[in-house]
Amino acid sequence: MSKKDVDQHSGTETTGHEWDGIRELNTPLPRWWLGIFYATIVWAVGYWVVMPAWPLVNGYTHGVLNHSQRADVAKAVEMLKASRRASEARLSKAGLTTIQNDPDLLQFAMAEGKAAFGDNCAPCHGSGGQGHKGYPNLNDDVWLWGGTLGDIQHTITVGVRSVSPDTRQSQMPAFGRDGILKDAQIGDVTEFVLSLSGRSADAKAIARGKKVFADNCVACHGERGLGNRAFGAPNLADRDWLYGGTREDIRSQIELGRGGVMPTWGGRLSPETIKALAVYVHSLGGGE
Ligand code: HEC
Ligand code: HEC
Repeated sequence: MSKKDVDQHSGTETTGHEWDGIRELNTPLPRWWLGIFYATIVWAVGYWVVMPAWPLVNGYTHGVLNHSQRADVAKAVEMLKASRRASEARLSKAGLTTIQNDPDLLQFAMAEGKAAFGDNCAPCHGSGGQGHKGYPNLNDDVWLWGGTLGDIQHTITVGVRSVSPDTRQSQMPAFGRDGILKDAQIGDVTEFVLSLSGRSADAKAIARGKKVFADNCVACHGERGLGNRAFGAPNLADRDWLYGGTREDIRSQIELGRGGVMPTWGGRLSPETIKALAVYVHSLGGGE
């Protein structure tokens, strides 16, 4: 491009590029724009000097201010811990009932328990502990393994069918899947279980089912189906169902013998946090 080519309409120089008779103008950048552009370059250089900026092979340039958000957070966390230390120490020493009778400590435990519940328990038990199929409701007064403060603390610490050597343990047999009972027997015992909570079912089937129940189920669920907390075996005579209360739901549990798994929290959460959780869960409505 030797000589300058000026567009006649606008009076602006062109770049010399042309497509099908359309020529590209070489409009100069506005001064104000250039001014801001150079200013940002100056700002960037200043920033590199003052603030952490460039990655290096081992680490990064710290900048003269040596600013670190990580250190700020660590300091804030340390301050928070210091402010809690006194209550934490009292919580660690206090027994569960002492906590319940001390308004200050109770408030602290409830706040800590609520936060820990949201972080660790809500995914399975629901944010308000309401539970859903296979995951027990912690708000009601129906308990598989017991609803005193001590029972709850123990369940949280060891878990259910989990990894702790002391975990709460029991296994309902899969009467259908493993061929322990015949199809007709499962049908009969399902009718019997329905009758336990006052629902109408075929009288002859109930009579046959009663025998099946006596032979196969009473060891865990008790003679009258009221359950047994030593095995976490639910009461079958109430209106509360872990796996659903329809005829199909009940039949399916007898066939499959599902057993819910609750993680072991001892070792993962501090004993103080578990204490706070026990107090919190106990307070949800069904504590004994
Ligand atoms: C991975 C899912 C899961 C998580 C997470 C979980 N749980 Fe559970 N939890 C269960 C299941 C399943 C059961 C029922 C076990 C059974 O069938 O016997 C249970 C049972 C319980 C029980 C006994 C209820 C009763 O009726 O006796 C308590 C109390 C409890 N969980 C509290 C907690 C707390 C507190 C946390 C948080 C630290 C928590 N759970 C986290 C799945 C979970
Ligand atoms: C070895 C003990 C054991 C035996 C034997 C046993 N069960 Fe269970 N059963 C349990 C346990 C434990 C649960 C709860 C499982 C869980 O928490 O996930 C349960 C749950 C149930 C449920 C679901 C209750 C609900 O709330 O949803 C039904 C229904 C049931 N059993 C019926 C029977 C019948 C009928 C028999 C006999 C044919 C039987 N069980 C034999 C231990 C047993």
